[in-house]
Order: sequence, then structure tokens, then C-alpha cells
Amino acid sequence: MGYVLAVGVGLLASCDSKSAGSEREGVTKAAIAESPHASGSQGTATPDDTARPAIPPLPPLEAVERAWRCAECHEELYDEWSRSPHANAAKSELFAASLEHADEHDCNRCHAPLARRIDDPQTVAEGVTCEVCHRMQAATATPDGANFELVASPATKYGPLCDATYPYFHEADCLPFFSESKLCGSCHLLHYPTPSGNSLPVYTEYEEWLAGPHGKEGKQCQSCHMPGATKAIASGEKERKGVPHHDFVGGPKSLVGTGLQVSAVIQSDDQGLDVDVTLLNRGAGHALPGVHRQLVLEAKTLSPSRVVVDQARVVFERQFVDATGNPVPFFAASRLGREHRIGPRERREEHFDLTAPEAGSLSITLLRLAVAPALAQRLGVPPPVPQVVLQAEVPFGAPDASHRRRHLPKRIELKP
Ligand code: HEC
Ligand code: HEC
Ligand code: HEC
Ligand code: HEC
Ligand code: HEC
Repeated sequence: MGYVLAVGVGLLASCDSKSAGSEREGVTKAAIAESPHASGSQGTATPDDTARPAIPPLPPLEAVERAWRCAECHEELYDEWSRSPHANAAKSELFAASLEHADEHDCNRCHAPLARRIDDPQTVAEGVTCEVCHRMQAATATPDGANFELVASPATKYGPLCDATYPYFHEADCLPFFSESKLCGSCHLLHYPTPSGNSLPVYTEYEEWLAGPHGKEGKQCQSCHMPGATKAIASGEKERKGVPHHDFVGGPKSLVGTGLQVSAVIQSDDQGLDVDVTLLNRGAGHALPGVHRQLVLEAKTLSPSRVVVDQARVVFERQFVDATGNPVPFFAASRLGREHRIGPRERREEHFDLTAPEAGSLSITLLRLAVAPALAQRLGVPPPVPQVVLQAEVPFGAPDASHRRRHLPKRIELKP
């Protein structure tokens, strides 16, 4: 148990996450307290690394294969996975930039779980690769995070099927948690301890799901994120029903942007428009947006030549702040800042009061940003490019005898 506490790695059920946490906080805090751009660290090391005791190795794993080796027989699943966020988990620009300021061991346990367990850096760089999930013997969702156990031997690949034919390459065995949310929750749940003993909710999809309607109904993460199709899972084998899609974002009918339904009720007078926007989290099993992301609801009035006359916006996000209230990455935060997200099946109202030109149009847009612009700047990555998720625009004319703007519909629905 000693080494688990020393490195703050929960791979093998750490029973004292608190002391592990305060130790790793000591390290990350020191690293980010400086200007985020002035980190003198080389690569991913933090300046404090020299002051820490040497980190003992984790139990090694034998003969871990790169994903392309699995592709020899599981070609389609491989293609799907290689487009997935999991294939990018150790490589994303945002993650790499964050590592300059964080304790890499504390991050790799979910982003690059093979780190320090094998010697091959290319396999480690595959992040959440086939062998990470399919060597799992046990997985539990606990707030200290990364509570899964990988089997040392390459002989057996675990999965949901109890009738898989034994190919020559590996044996197969079934474990029920492959079809349960807790497999996902072993990484998609993390509460992060601060030096002052607070615990910050960071990754919370699992607990939001568990407490929400989908958890109560027993609708697992996989049923939305890995929808099934009929096909052979390995070349030359018989077709199977319900083969789970491996891009983890819903396959051909991508889930991205389908979570929220947004509509607006509009009232008007001589001066301007009163816009009541309703956002319903209809599609997701958890709150939106996800951690690190922002959703921005923007309403504008425009003149006929498309000059903006008035505009207002609301940002949906979970923000972490330092002691002085500035937004910082979660691993450098002392407390939760603004929390404005929409829970599963929750309905939210936002109100906009806009001045309007004599004639013109009203535009309402829901934008998605991969990261808060302030954090991008702090981490030294390019500002996020806003993606339009939903949108509506309606023209209007001068007020009529009852002071209502001509042509303006009472209610509009935002569309992709
Ligand atoms: C318990 C597992 C876990 C740990 C530990 C963890 N992460 Fe994450 N990380 C995730 C998950 C899961 C996501 C996907 C986002 C979500 O679930 O909302 C993610 C997403 C991210 C992203 C966004 C990636 C992108 O490409 O947009 C960044 C940046 C990030 N994490 C940084 C870190 C850093 C830095 C650390 C260490 C201080 C860390 N994470 C520790 C699980 C973890
Ligand atoms: C993030 C974890 C994760 C990763 C990474 C992953 N899988 Fe899976 N895989 C799963 C889960 C979960 C299931 C079962 C889903 C279910 O039962 O709904 C599954 C099911 C399977 C199955 C059984 C198919 C069936 O019909 O049930 C095969 C084969 C498989 N995966 C191969 C692969 C290969 C090959 C890779 C890499 C290219 C890979 N997986 C990467 C989680 C993962
Ligand atoms: C030589 C071909 C071959 C290679 C290479 C191969 N597999 Fe398989 N795998 C199979 C066959 C065949 C099945 C069973 C197909 C069936 O019964 O429909 C299978 C089944 C599976 C299952 C389902 C297990 C279960 O009980 O649910 C998983 C998971 C899996 N493979 C993962 C992997 C991973 C991970 C790799 C790479 C390390 C890999 N396979 C490499 C041929 C292969
Ligand atoms: C071993 C840890 C691990 C497991 C297990 C895992 N994930 Fe992830 N997941 C991550 C990490 C790390 C990221 C961040 C990748 C990135 O964006 O760079 C992520 C990203 C994602 C994303 C994209 C998030 C975003 O903000 O764009 C989705 C969706 C997702 N995972 C769903 C799932 C589902 C569903 C399961 C279970 C079938 C699962 N994950 C299991 C670690 C894991
Ligand atoms: C009822 C279906 C459903 C269930 C169940 C579900 N999700 Fe999702 N999830 C979605 C949808 C839809 C989105 C996309 C939201 C959007 O972009 O509008 C999503 C998005 C995500 C994201 C990315 C969030 C973002 O803003 O980019 C992550 C991470 C995620 N889900 C993880 C999970 C995990 C882990 C579970 C299980 C604990 C789970 N989901 C259960 C439907 C579901």
C-alpha cells in the first residue's frame, strides 16, 4: 500500500486517497502558482520533481499489444476506436499543455494508464487503448479515480461475451461490468483534493448519471455511447447482434450536439424584444456541458445590413478558481467557481432583453467551445474555435398598432 500513497495512484484501490491527494496537491500547486507560461520544467516534469521521493514502479504488464495488432482481426472496431477521444487521451494538445503544469503521474493514471507499467512509449501514447479496457479484471467508480485493475498476463481478453470462440491469438472471458456504467465511471469520476482539505468535483458524469433519471432507469453509458450494430466482431467469424460501436460518441448518429433542445418565446414592443429561452437536456444521461467545455447561448438583434444592434450571452460551464477568484485548471484550483450546467432532463430558462432597430432580425445561437478562452490563454494553447451547435434567425419589421413587431413569430425552435 505504501507506494500507492506515495504516488497518489488509485490503480490498486487506494484506501487513503486523502493523504495521497494532499501530497500530489503540494506538487501541482507549486508548479502552477508561477506564471503558467514561465514554467521552467522540461517536458512534463514539474520543478518540484527533484524534491520528491523516487516513485516506485507499478506492477508491470506482460506483452501489451498496440491497437494495430488487434486490428489484424478486429479491423472495424479498430477504425472506430482510432477516431475516438480515447485514442487521443494521451496526445491532445490541451492535455499536453496541462501536463507542463501538473503532476504527470496523477494525470496519466486515466489518460495514459499504461505509463510506468510497460517500457514502450508508443503503446503508452495510445492512451486509453484496447488493452487498457480489455485487460480490466475489475473496475469501480470511486471519487479518487482510476479504480480499475489490469491483469498482468496477455493470455485472456475480457469482454461482455460469454460465448466468444477461442481464437489462436487470445482466450476470451466474460465479465458483466463491461456492459455497465461503472467501467466508464472508473475514469469518468474524480473528486480532486485541494491543499486546504476541500474536495473539488472534477469529472462527474458517473455520479450525475447514477443520481439522475437514467441511472434510476438502468440505462447504462454504453447504451447511448456504444450503440449496437449487426456485424462480425472478428474477421471470418459469424455475425453478431448488438456489436458495440467503438468511437464512444454514438457511432454514425453522433451524439455530439444532440443533448440539448432549445426554444425561445419572443415578445416585443416599440423599444425592443423580450426573449425567454428554454434549454432542455433531453438527450444526455448527465449534466452538460462536460468538464473543460463551454456552451455559450448568444442572442443578438441585427440591422438589415447585419450590424449588431444589441447582444447578450450566457455561458454554461463548470469553473475552477484560485484563492483570488481567477479561473485556473482544476489541478491548481482552491475552490469551485461558477457552476452553471444543465442536469439530465433538467429544463433551464434564460431571459434576454434586447433593444431592436426599426426593422432587422433576431439571431439566437448555441455555441460549443472545447475549453474556456481564459484557460486556453493561461495554458498557452490557441483560443478555441466556437462550433455552432444550434441556431435560429427570424426577421422582424416596425411595430404594428398594438406595438408588436411585425412578422415576428411567438415561438422559435433552434435547429442544427
Ligand atoms: C480519474 C481519471 C482522470 C484523471 C486522474 C485525470 N483525468 Fe483528465 N480527463 C478524464 C476524462 C474522463 C476526461 C474527458 C472529459 C470528461 O469526462 O468530462 C478528461 C479530459 C481532460 C482534458 C480535456 C482533453 C481534451 O482534449 O479536450 C484535459 C486537458 C485533462 N483531462 C487534463 C487532466 C490533467 C492535467 C490531469 C492531472 C492533473 C487529469 N486530466 C487527470 C479523466 C481523468
Ligand atoms: C474505453 C474502453 C474500451 C476501449 C479503449 C476498447 N473497448 Fe472494446 N469494449 C468495451 C466495452 C465497454 C465493450 C462492451 C460494450 C457493451 O457490452 O455494451 C467492448 C466490447 C468489445 C468487443 C466485443 C464485441 C461484442 O459484440 O460485444 C470486442 C471484440 C472489443 N471490444 C474489441 C476492442 C478492440 C479491438 C479495441 C481497440 C481497437 C477496443 N475494444 C477498445 C470497451 C473498450
Ligand atoms: C488472430 C485474430 C485476433 C486477434 C489478433 C485479436 N483477436 Fe480478439 N477475438 C478474436 C476472435 C476470433 C474473437 C471471438 C469472435 C466471436 O466469437 O465472434 C475475439 C474476441 C475478442 C473479445 C471479446 C471477448 C469477450 O468475451 O467478450 C475481445 C474483448 C477481444 N477479442 C479483444 C482483443 C484485443 C484487445 C486484441 C489485441 C490485443 C485482440 N482481440 C486481438 C480474434 C482476434
Ligand atoms: C481508462 C480510463 C477511461 C475509461 C475506462 C473510459 N474513459 Fe472515456 N475518456 C477518458 C479520457 C482520459 C478522456 C479524455 C480524452 C481526450 O479528450 O483527450 C475520455 C473521453 C471520453 C469522451 C469525450 C469527452 C469530451 O469531452 O469530448 C466520451 C464521450 C467518453 N470518454 C465516454 C466513455 C464511455 C462511454 C466509457 C465507457 C464505455 C468510457 N469513456 C470509459 C478515459 C476513460
Ligand atoms: C441517455 C443517453 C446517455 C447516457 C445514458 C449517457 N450519456 Fe454521455 N452523452 C450523451 C449525449 C447525447 C451527449 C452529447 C451531448 C451534446 O454534445 O449535446 C453526451 C456527452 C458525453 C460526454 C461529453 C460531454 C461534452 O460536453 O462534450 C461525456 C464525457 C459523456 N457523455 C460520458 C458519459 C458517461 C461516462 C456516461 C455513463 C456514466 C454517460 N455519458 C451516459 C448521452 C448519454
